[in-house]
Amino acid sequence: DEHCICQFVIFGSTGDLASKKLLPALYHLKCAGRLPPEMRIIAFGRRPWNDKAWQEFLKEQLEHYAEGFTADHFADFCTHFHYVEGEIHDPAAYQKLRKILTPKGSTEPDPSIFYLAIRPADFVPVVQQLSAAGFNKEADTRIVIEKPFGDDLESAMQLNEQLHRHFKEEQIYRIDHYLGKEIVQNLLVFRFANLPIEAIWNRNYIDHVQITVAESGGIENRAGYYDQAGALRDMVQNHLMQILTLVAMEPPPSLEADALRDEKVKVLRSIRPIPKSAVHAHALRAQYGPGVIEEQHVPGYADEAGVAKNSVTETFVAAKFYIDNWRWRGVPFYLRTGKRLPAKTSSVAIRFRHTPQQLFRETPIERIEPNWILLSLEPESLKIEIYVKEPGLEMRVRPVQLNASYRRDGEEELDAYEALLLDVMEGDKALFIRFDEVEWAWRVVDPIIKAWGREVDYIITYPAGSWGPDEATRIMDKEDQYWRNQI
Ligand code: BG6
Repeated sequence: DEHCICQFVIFGSTGDLASKKLLPALYHLKCAGRLPPEMRIIAFGRRPWNDKAWQEFLKEQLEHYAEGFTADHFADFCTHFHYVEGEIHDPAAYQKLRKILTPKGSTEPDPSIFYLAIRPADFVPVVQQLSAAGFNKEADTRIVIEKPFGDDLESAMQLNEQLHRHFKEEQIYRIDHYLGKEIVQNLLVFRFANLPIEAIWNRNYIDHVQITVAESGGIENRAGYYDQAGALRDMVQNHLMQILTLVAMEPPPSLEADALRDEKVKVLRSIRPIPKSAVHAHALRAQYGPGVIEEQHVPGYADEAGVAKNSVTETFVAAKFYIDNWRWRGVPFYLRTGKRLPAKTSSVAIRFRHTPQQLFRETPIERIEPNWILLSLEPESLKIEIYVKEPGLEMRVRPVQLNASYRRDGEEELDAYEALLLDVMEGDKALFIRFDEVEWAWRVVDPIIKAWGREVDYIITYPAGSWGPDEATRIMDKEDQYWRNQI
């Protein structure tokens, strides 16, 4: 592909993100034969290393974090790398980079991808240095950044403004790794490749939508970041909001990046702003206390290393949003995410309305639930719950699940990062977040952030290993609505 950019520079190459996600993803792409042979990866770092020392580090990380590590593949993989020592605030380091990225006989560097796997406070300084060193002149140069894109509306706007001073929006790739997940993309196929589905995908048939991202893990060693952020910023503003846009958006004219992202932004813009006085009716936060997960006793959040004892940072959020447009008016979207829940499972559960009449009186009325469409991100599955007649003399009904287990044995499983890295290299921005998506998603959650920011005395808790606090149903509109945990 003529647009494929094959020079890849990693800032923060010895950090957590590089070790856990980025390097393993590149390694798997190599093993799968998907890294172009001419691919050059520059690991940029502060440590006074040569290539050999870098390779030792790389090996350790991959042995730990990459599945299917073999010495042969590793040796091949290493041929792509070059370690460059430098300090991210030192202009000389960028001149050194420039030299390395400039082909012999030329004065201008080849287009490159700069992956900023660094703490957010360093985004702008690095981008400034890159632009001062002239890297922004090449239109095909790409900057990849990871969330958090700001920590509220105002800071996000400032960050965007700073980035745009140096690079054009077309050059900026904001990663939300949820968009790299197979099943999240499957939402588009499920909706727009199936006529009968799209026909009922609206307020006439759908009672409400639930989006759950549950994790059994705690905050691991990220207290420093997490205690400042909390679940609303860490998960809802980005991952859950992105899933919501894909569930709710209108069919785009094509899957071209801006066509798709225009539709997503329209959804975000249609979300009814939560008035200050109604934050409690719309959103609930909680924090995990001690409990038992998979037969292991685990400490409460306040007892985790690095967390202040009186922290009111939320590890659980349940929130309700309305999308005020023709398709969705009046249909609540319930979003929920939490750490230390019973399992790592994420899902989109769509509940339909009741049939207008209940003909099958021999089935107790309370046993007739409306239909559900259940899309599970993890473990991957796609189910539709419908009713059939129970065999026998009586007209009794019972639910069955139509199960579209779509993955065939042996079919390739790409990690979200692998898919997204290939997209960056090929310049496909459809699965990256445009600045206005960031902005509007912050607008949606900002009233909640503001309200919670003022309430610093108290937060309700839930036992680790439970599905969150009982109060989480409080935000629901109707008596017969409940959180669906079994998918
Ligand atoms: C990250 C959050 O963006 O997503 C983490 O910062 C969270 O707190 C993670 O654990 C979940 O990602 P995944 O792919 O494991 O569901």
